[in-house]
Amino acid sequence: MASSSEIRESFLRFFAEREHERVASGPLVPPNDPTLMFANAGMVQFKDVFTGKESRPYSRATSSQKCIRISGKHNDLENVGVTARHHTFFEMLGNFSFGNYFKQDAIKFAWDYFIDTLGLDPERLVVTVFGGEEGFAPADDEAAAIWKDVTGFPDERIIRCGAKDNFWQMGDTGPCGPCSEIHYCLGLDDIDPRTFGEEPAADGRGWFELWNLVFMQFERHAGGRMDPLPAPSIDTGAGLERIAVVKQGVLSNYDTDLLRPIVDLASEISGKRYRASQSEDDVSMRVIADHARTTAFLISEGVFPDKEGRAYVLRRVMRRAIRHGHRLGIHEPFLHHCALRVVEDMGDVYPQLVERRALIDEITQQEEERFRRTLDRGLQLISDNKEWIDAGGARSLPGKVAFKLYDTYGFPLDLQNVIGEEQGFDVDHAGFDAELAQARQRSQGSKVG
Ligand code: GLY
Repeated sequence: MASSSEIRESFLRFFAEREHERVASGPLVPPNDPTLMFANAGMVQFKDVFTGKESRPYSRATSSQKCIRISGKHNDLENVGVTARHHTFFEMLGNFSFGNYFKQDAIKFAWDYFIDTLGLDPERLVVTVFGGEEGFAPADDEAAAIWKDVTGFPDERIIRCGAKDNFWQMGDTGPCGPCSEIHYCLGLDDIDPRTFGEEPAADGRGWFELWNLVFMQFERHAGGRMDPLPAPSIDTGAGLERIAVVKQGVLSNYDTDLLRPIVDLASEISGKRYRASQSEDDVSMRVIADHARTTAFLISEGVFPDKEGRAYVLRRVMRRAIRHGHRLGIHEPFLHHCALRVVEDMGDVYPQLVERRALIDEITQQEEERFRRTLDRGLQLISDNKEWIDAGGARSLPGKVAFKLYDTYGFPLDLQNVIGEEQGFDVDHAGFDAELAQARQRSQGSKVG
């Protein structure tokens, strides 16, 4: 079994041995980039290098990038803790070529790393290529031919997909291009490429993406126009948590050494046994583990929970975790213990965590104390609410109550949705928006969140 530290190191070493500069992770909060809330891929710190606006003393690089995907293009918050793969925080391993090598080498490197260095079983893999789509680019026959040559795969294991899956862009603007993905069939004896595309089972069995190779060829501008980049380039992203799943012989990312220790800590604090199931308790422990990582990393970069922008996103995440702890019957502040476990486990790779340890501890505890003071009163407000809106036979929490929960008690709207799912009601979002707009008017345009 390879530890996640060994996998991370082996990836960076493999590319360093092939003349790639080892570059430290860029920050989660991209400096001077209003188009992006958080770094969501390894290429973010190299964005201007791809477009030719910035030059570096190297034309090949490799990194392990801290990423957060919560809102916008790659929004998965509702699935976190429910599926085996979704996270808010994760690490992306990547290799990059800035006008140096292109498809042929990128594909060969990826294959050699997976098969020769990591020892993955090629029988469990399929690859995808871009099948062409109006408004994007023609079919990537070149990539398909290289894959065939490098892997020896028959055509049915080189699968053509549309732009939704095989055209990568960081956001609405920026460098982009067709991509090829390597997918792995986990935990099944019968490996049939014809089942590719079927949803994996809740426990994680089935096909899932391990590595995405983006053939950067264009820059997309506001309004949708695409111009060719000065030189075709390579941007790849492989989720460390996912590779750890394969190498550690487990089904869920939450059972890898990256997350399981935090899940176990949540279990220890709550006194509830973790059974790696889909039970509400187990989902709650996984949510806590994921959100503790986002909490520790964002605070280490100077983002503190508050009412607007990134700070509000952090507050949402922290309060969701705290609410899940409350559900598990944890009555004392606990999230700081989980965040400090993240510092302990990842501080050697991301030293900023260690430097800001005391701050992570203090801010997390303060936020939990603040939220816990109102949590019970907020839940009481929901159960005392007599004015359920009748939404086609289902109960819906009126906008007025939802807004009070948000404004007075600090319950982010998506947290109310979480509670609604548990207790069997919807939230009247339109009513909430109307209340919010009125409050904004009352405070003469000053922002409330
Ligand atoms: N930039 C490649 C990826 O995120 O998959």
